[in-house]
Amino acid sequence: MRLSDNFGRKINYLRLSVTDRCNMRCVYCMPADGNDKLGHAEILSYEQFLLIAEAAVSLGIEKIRVTGGEPLVRTGIVSFLEQLANISGLEQLVLTTNGVLLPEMAQMLKDVGVQRLNISLDSLQPEMFTRLTRRDLLPQVLAGIAAAEKVGLPYKINMVVMRGFNDNEILDFAKLTQEHDCTVRFIEYMPVLKDENWRSLVVPSKEILQRLNDHYCLHPVDRGVLAGPAEEFAINGAQGRIGVIAPLSGHFCQDCNRIRITASGNVRTCLFSDHKFDLKPLLIPGNTDNVASKLQQLVNDKPACHTLNSHTTEYSSFSMAQIGG
Ligand code: 5AD
Ligand code: SF4
Repeated sequence: MRLSDNFGRKINYLRLSVTDRCNMRCVYCMPADGNDKLGHAEILSYEQFLLIAEAAVSLGIEKIRVTGGEPLVRTGIVSFLEQLANISGLEQLVLTTNGVLLPEMAQMLKDVGVQRLNISLDSLQPEMFTRLTRRDLLPQVLAGIAAAEKVGLPYKINMVVMRGFNDNEILDFAKLTQEHDCTVRFIEYMPVLKDENWRSLVVPSKEILQRLNDHYCLHPVDRGVLAGPAEEFAINGAQGRIGVIAPLSGHFCQDCNRIRITASGNVRTCLFSDHKFDLKPLLIPGNTDNVASKLQQLVNDKPACHTLNSHTTEYSSFSMAQIGG
């Protein structure tokens, strides 16, 4: 079976946010004192997530990303990932992490079948890192990246570009691809917390590319069929690649292939739509078919596009940690 929506988009990518908790407090994601945390009873059990994952794979989902909050802080995450990796029909199991716990966990993740990591890293400069994440953990994250490399886990680095904060590091991040076989992706800052003056923080992808092109000789590269929304390039002669993700200025929505499940079991078919559906009542052992038909129905109603570029912003503020970055 093939899951597709009313606009003919094939939906083959499921994101599971397994916790809303995090060991960092990135300024673009959370308030300084964190979000109101979900109570333990509100968060789905791993069994409930597995039921959703199985239903989704039966509908044609080929790729699952486990996100948070920070997924590696949830107890039992490694054996959950192992169970996900064993779902037959699933082609790709990938994980988004801030990297802090990778030094001790990278090998286990590799061993249970995680195929690739997205590691969030927004600054290579200790002071700016601490300002952006409100945590003094750059050495741990760098050690985490080294651990991923050592165990042979392919990884991408996600850098959220914010004007006046880390945009002077774009070239340094690009340089990483000359020394490492990884993908560095520059992500336009998204106004998820609805901060005032958010537009002044956005560095449009065009400008990011311009700055890269002014300094490096880049050529476009092809991406795999399950690839995300990044346009990809490589510096001539470099081992790694550079991606630019433009949720605001780019043609993002028309190629959207994803749905999200929040830690509390809400289905979100678009980040910037307040529409959500509580799957929890359906998550009874053995109920896979009902979950699958509900997912199908929700995907049919997936919005065509977000409205961030219009003058009315109709969504409520949220944190990526609550929905899954
Ligand atoms: N804008 C852009 N990307 C964001 N992420 C979280 N919040 C934002 C935001 N406001 C993404 C980043 C981060 C991941 C966890 O989620 O890529 O690395
Ligand atoms: Fe945590 Fe990621 Fe949000 Fe930063 S962006 S606070 S690492 S969930």
